[in-house]
Amino acid sequence: AKKTYKMADDFLWGGAIAAHQAEGFWDVDGKGVSIADVLTAGDNQTARQITDGVVAGENYPNHHGVYFYETYKEDLALLKEMGFKAFRTSIAWTRIFPNGDELEPNEKGLKFYDDLFDEMNRLGIEPVVTLQHFEMPYHLVTAYGGWYNRKVIDFFERYARVVLTRYKDKVKYWMTHNEISNQASLADAHSTFQVWVNSGLKFDEKATLDEKLEKMYQAAHNELVASARAVIIAHELDANLKVGCMLAETPIYPATTKPEDQLAALKATQAREWFADVHVRGAYPATLETMFARKGFRKNVTEQDFDELKRGTVDYFAMSYYMSWVVRAVAEKTVVLDDQRSVALTPNTEIQASDWGWNIDPKGLRFVLNQLSDRYPNLPIMIVENGFGAYDELVAAEDTDNAELTVHDGYRIDYLREHIRAFEEAVALDGVNLIGYLSWAPFDIVSAGTGEMKKRYGYVYVDLDDFGNGSGKRYKKDSFYWYQQVINTQGQDL
Ligand code: BG6
Repeated sequence: AKKTYKMADDFLWGGAIAAHQAEGFWDVDGKGVSIADVLTAGDNQTARQITDGVVAGENYPNHHGVYFYETYKEDLALLKEMGFKAFRTSIAWTRIFPNGDELEPNEKGLKFYDDLFDEMNRLGIEPVVTLQHFEMPYHLVTAYGGWYNRKVIDFFERYARVVLTRYKDKVKYWMTHNEISNQASLADAHSTFQVWVNSGLKFDEKATLDEKLEKMYQAAHNELVASARAVIIAHELDANLKVGCMLAETPIYPATTKPEDQLAALKATQAREWFADVHVRGAYPATLETMFARKGFRKNVTEQDFDELKRGTVDYFAMSYYMSWVVRAVAEKTVVLDDQRSVALTPNTEIQASDWGWNIDPKGLRFVLNQLSDRYPNLPIMIVENGFGAYDELVAAEDTDNAELTVHDGYRIDYLREHIRAFEEAVALDGVNLIGYLSWAPFDIVSAGTGEMKKRYGYVYVDLDDFGNGSGKRYKKDSFYWYQQVINTQGQDL
């Protein structure tokens, strides 16, 4: 057997979900409509559509989620049984400020998260909470134009202040905007989805790439200022609160040894990683400043912004990791940051992909952990998403300890084992300061990218289909017992 390593006793083993993919009950107890509530169902061939408001007769999977709003005690008990030390979820902004621009929060929404965090603390499961996970109030899009509008900075600040104040004694680990870096990929096929969920932006079909970039960079700037303010508020409330940024980390490899391809990979990396520089160092890198000056992007800024960015740097680095990419330079074009068409994604023939086309690359996890550790020395890193979306088949269990049904998900165990091995090597052999591993998602939830239920990640199977039909019952998969043993041995028994 390959050598394994033991993680420190205080290492945060656990899992992660997001409110809009799990809670359901999208319109109860005063909750407002979020940008996730107007996303229809898709699949691995069909993109989710963004409708104008909630349209009768459409299938909106986030409306039902997996009913976590009601089942959270039962679900948390299962996580506890696996030995979870930490669990990440998000607060649905629309439960607290239904439209986003109210002055007073919705008490019923606040009460729900009181109960949820109390239950986690009672079980000894550390809450890790995302402030904005693809779920801004829809009203802030229709009335203000999403994050492009600076007013949204103030609305977010109000929301952040309310929840940080309310839960400061219940939640120590926070993060601001989920996968803020995804919106950088404006030239790829999923860009409509990404700018929508990150920033509430919807581009005119005739918009040029420059027009889109201008909007995205301004919206991202506004989000970064809002994030910095949340960090400042948190530290004023309690110096022990830890607030992180959250980026989707995807190592980007050059397709060939051609110098053009090396440069293309570097430029594609810069296009995604600069968000982290602002979050961590409190300033934009020179590549971005130069491009902004050249192009006239990110114009709507104040002196105060830059001061807040400096003061509101993050305490730790949260990241998701699912896959790596390969890129090549497109012939005849100069590789530059502001023309993403000068870089093209290409398939990686060296490794396998999931049924949704996501490259499976455990070594890439060690690669990015090393990169980040070199780039931001000493900054603690937490993996807050990593997992294998796959079709599962519910079958009769041979060993019926407490249920008749199970899933034999050896493929999921294989994926997770190799990724855990990769981060253990990064810690033990490379000295990376990794403080936790929260896999995505410990029980099946609605897929963010496709809206499917059948793209499953869980250790626990949830009996619901793509239309929300099913018993909703929870069944332990093989991976449940496997992960339990991993945690129990601090990562030694893989
Ligand atoms: C990340 C998101 O992009 O990946 C999650 O933060 C999402 O919300 C996860 O669920 C997996 O993606 P998908 O599309 O398979 O649900």
